Amino acid sequence: MDRIRIRGGAPLHGLIPISGAKNAALPLMIASLLTEDTLELGNVPRLADISSLLRIMSNFGVDHSIAGRRPGQSTETGQTIRLTARNVIDTTAPYELVSTMRASFWVIAPLVARFGHAKVSMPGGCAIGTRPVDLLIMALAKLGAAIEIEAGYVVATAPKGLRGAEIDFPKVTVGGTHVALMAATLAQGTTVIRNAAREPEVVDLAECLIKMGAKIQGAGSSEIVVEGVTSLHGASHDVMPDRIETGTYAMAVAMTGGDLVLDNTRADYLQAALDVLGQAGAEVTSTHGGIRIRRNGNGLMPVDVTTDPFPGFPTDLQAQFMALMTRANGTSRIRETIFENRFMHVQELARLGAQIRLDGDSAYVDGVPGLKGAPVMATDLRASVSLVIAGLVADGETTINRVYHLDRGFEALEAKLARCGALIERVRG
Ligand code: EPU
Repeated sequence: MDRIRIRGGAPLHGLIPISGAKNAALPLMIASLLTEDTLELGNVPRLADISSLLRIMSNFGVDHSIAGRRPGQSTETGQTIRLTARNVIDTTAPYELVSTMRASFWVIAPLVARFGHAKVSMPGGCAIGTRPVDLLIMALAKLGAAIEIEAGYVVATAPKGLRGAEIDFPKVTVGGTHVALMAATLAQGTTVIRNAAREPEVVDLAECLIKMGAKIQGAGSSEIVVEGVTSLHGASHDVMPDRIETGTYAMAVAMTGGDLVLDNTRADYLQAALDVLGQAGAEVTSTHGGIRIRRNGNGLMPVDVTTDPFPGFPTDLQAQFMALMTRANGTSRIRETIFENRFMHVQELARLGAQIRLDGDSAYVDGVPGLKGAPVMATDLRASVSLVIAGLVADGETTINRVYHLDRGFEALEAKLARCGALIERVRG
């Protein structure tokens, strides 16, 4: 298994191009199941999760092609993928495939909406908690799907098609909103989704669905109204920039000091996190196509944060921010309200010398003057990258094992950081 080796202490200077968002690309690819025409997606990141979803879609009979590289494109400029779900031969997603990536459960929505039948394995637990799918099933049931649970599979049927409905989510769920939105586009009549997730990825999906002929209003607010249509058609859409990748590199330069331009991204996608970085002592400014982050000389101030649905501070940046706070001049409290068990990085950060106490949903981080390199590993993507951030300032060498977690969600991580001065390399093994 590959490892990442880092020698800490080098500041970051330069420009990092931000990739297309994994968490937007995945639902967009799934939306191709809603039409027999071709959906062309640009700016798709080269990530293991994208390849896994392509495998799952191929299993249904979806054809795909990946456009060859054009002059001026590097491996870090996103790829263009065309997906055509004309001859869907199977509407079953087996456990072996769904268990590798939870988001693949969302295929249940377009499959039942377009074909009247879907059988999708329950995803099961994952490293960041129990993560149930009850609200996704509730949304489909409201839309008139008959739901049965059989031997670990959710079987959804609607032989006469789905019907518009009022869906009130008791808590904000990104996946639930994606599922309700996709299913409602082909339902007969009007659907109102209340307490909808307002994440930019929901807006990106809605914009693509609108290009495909869907009638959607209110995406980005907590009430989305969908007027069902009888069919959708092909479209071409570019995946939005990855706000979590943006925030991760912003935290990396806040940690090491230096001056980084994050290109091809948008500050308004992560304003809450940028505000917190400002309070911690980084200087954040907007550039023509992105964001510039600097920290020169001054130390890091402790800042308390609570994770929240968008526009709050994202849970997907909580581990990275905790890594940053390990070096602050004082104690910060980091409260995780989205997932109940998303603190696996704490033990590994401790191996590097961090002082962190856990109490219920909160972590209290006492800043220390220095971290020391060590071998570490993590069990999820964001936790792994928090160890990279810590490794960038730790004395000596940090080796991060289980790099496949990073490859699921960070395109060319070590190349992007190395070009900006980090002493980081991948060790094949
Ligand atoms: N929840 C339920 N029942 C449900 C669905 C969700 O109780 O049926 C709960 C979850 O257990 C959690 C909360 O609702 O406590 C929010 O979960 P949500 O459904 O919003 O999460 P998700 O759609 O499964 C997506 C991202 C996650 C990100 C969360 C929160 C993708 C592919 N995944 O997950 O990203 O943390 O939203 O913003 O979009 C990651 O990229 O590392 C990652 C985990």
